[in-house]
Order: sequence, then structure tokens, then C-alpha cells
Amino acid sequence: MRAIMAHDKGYLAPHEAKIIKIRELTDTTKLFELKFVEEHLNPLFRNDPGQFVELSVYGIGEVPISITSPPTKRGSFELGIRNVGNVTNAMHKLKKGDIVGIRGPFGNHFPVEEYKGKDLLFVTGGLGYLPLRSAFRFALHNRDDYGKIYILYGDRCPADVLFPEENEEYEKREDIVFLSTVDRDDEMCWGGNIGVVTSLFPAIADKLDPKNTVAMICGPPIMYKFVNIELEKLGLDSDHIFLSLERKMKCGVGKCCHCGIGDKFVCLDGPVFTLRQIRTLPEALM
Ligand SMILES: Cc1cc2nc3c(=O)[nH]c(=O)nc-3n(C[C@H](O)[C@H](O)[C@H](O)COP(=O)(O)OP(=O)(O)OC[C@H]3O[C@@H](n4cnc5c(N)ncnc54)[C@H](O)[C@@H]3O)c2cc1C
Ligand code: FES
Repeated sequence: MRAIMAHDKGYLAPHEAKIIKIRELTDTTKLFELKFVEEHLNPLFRNDPGQFVELSVYGIGEVPISITSPPTKRGSFELGIRNVGNVTNAMHKLKKGDIVGIRGPFGNHFPVEEYKGKDLLFVTGGLGYLPLRSAFRFALHNRDDYGKIYILYGDRCPADVLFPEENEEYEKREDIVFLSTVDRDDEMCWGGNIGVVTSLFPAIADKLDPKNTVAMICGPPIMYKFVNIELEKLGLDSDHIFLSLERKMKCGVGKCCHCGIGDKFVCLDGPVFTLRQIRTLPEALM
């Protein structure tokens, strides 16, 4: 964030934020819209795509959560949260009007603004959709600044698919290519492509100009392994492939050493790295 910086209270101590809207995205994932209680902070808060906040559920604990709304959304921000343990479970029990703590935003970002004029390829899997949504919605809100835009999204099954109504809108648009797939369709309700996200690559391979394309990827480490192979086969430069890493974090600001890989802290130097950088970091994709 440009406003709540190191000298600000929100760097190490949380600012209070109120939950103003809650929406169920799937059985396990909810979308929370939040606003700072101190009104003057709301117009100041600005995230870059792919940044995260440290979210405190008072009395329970603090967890890193990506901001899923794009920087173009002002006055409030959105967090998509999957219920997996102590803090996320407690968050899922909160109601509209309840207060949580927010520090940040922290970390670097997907360089969408820096690559104006280029073609953009977004590849995402599972919960990785949430941070990448901030990046591709920013690009879509500034559509004229970019060449071709491709979004490839894979998830485990139809019930896990995030933001289906937004995805339907993307599918209908003629100025972008949005393709989605599921690994399996046990309920036989999908009607689209079945297979992992790399099974979507043949549909765009002929259209993509590797010299003019920047790829931004967010998903599980296993997905990175196979997506990187496809991108390099297509001829993308490893400096033009950006991936977001997830590590267990505590402080979010380079103080506690919980998120170290090699000589980097994921919270401070990342979470977004180029493929070239990642190749020099031991165990980055584990
Ligand atoms: C930069 C960053 C951005 C994130 N963005 C989001 C997001 O937008 N939405 C979202 O739902 N989650 C996100 N996460 C993951 C989220 O922080 C964890 O799910 C959360 O910390 C779990 O805390 P808990 O107290 O609910 O679970 P715990 O009780 O601590 O743990 C429950 C289970 O989850 C596992 N777990 C805990 N932390 C992580 C982790 N960081 N990665 C993988 N498994 C973990 C534990 O090993 C355990 O099996 C992000 C993590 C990072 C590092
Ligand atoms: S989370 Fe503390 S150093 Fe990164």
C-alpha cells in the first residue's frame, strides 16, 4: 500500500476493519468485503495486484490473505478465504458488522501496470484464482492498455469453481480469451473441458506471440512445474514468467524469518518472483 507504510501503525499493529458484506463462493470459501473503521484510511488504502494483508481474528490469531479485489476498487477491499484451520474457521463464523484487524498490504506484486502494451497470459489453479483475480481484473478495467489477454483457469471439480458468474461474463467477451477446466466432473454437471489446466494450452498455442507475451501464474506448486514446461515450449522468456509463491508466514514484513527460501523472504522479496529468480532459489517450488 502506498498509504499505510512502515511508519504507520498498520505496519506492525493492525487497523480495525469492519466486515460490510459476506458471500459464499463455495462450500468452504467465502468472500468478505471490508472497510476500515477509521474512515480516513479507506480512500488512502491501495493494493497492487497480488499483494496480501495480515488478517487478525481477535482472540484467535493472524493469517496472511491475498487481496482479491483489484486496485481499481476503491473505498473497500475483498478477501476470499477458505476455511482450513483455526483462524480461517473463526473468520467464517463472523457476521456482517463484525470487526477484524488488518495489517498491510504487504509484498511485491504482479507487474501488470509495468507491462502496458504487452499481451498478457494469466494461468491459475484452485485458490490461486484469488490473488490472480486482482491482477486480471485490473487489466480488464484498463483493457485498452494491453494487447491480447488470455486467462486459463483450472480447478478440481465444478463445486470448487470460484466466481462462476464472473467467469461466464469473461467467456462471452470477444476481446479476451477465457478458458476453464476441471480435473474431474463426478456430478456430470460441467459441460466444459475436463483435464488439468495445461490441457487448455493447445487452444491458445497458435495465437500466442511468445516475444510479446508476459505470463502471470498463481496456483499450487505442482501446477507451476507443468505450466512452466508449457510456457517454455511456447518460447516465453523466463524473465517474462511471474509466479506467486506461498509460504507459512508470521510477521509479513521480513522480521520473523518464517518465510525464508534461499536468501529471500517470500513476504518481502515476493510473493511474486520470475521463473528465472525461482530457478536460483532452492526448494522454491516445494
Ligand atoms: C501470501 C499468502 C497469501 C494467502 N492468500 C490466501 C487467500 O487469499 N485465501 C485463503 O483462503 N488462504 C490464503 N493463504 C493461506 C492462508 O494464509 C492459510 O490457509 C491460513 O494461514 C491457515 O490458517 P488457519 O489458522 O486457518 O489454519 P491452521 O490451523 O494454521 O492450519 C490448518 C491447516 O492448514 C495448513 N496451512 C496453514 N497455513 C498454510 C499455508 N500458508 N499454506 C498452506 N497450508 C497452510 C496447515 O498445515 C494445516 O494443515 C495465503 C497464504 C499466504 C502465505
Ligand atoms: S513472514 Fe516474517 S519474515 Fe516473512
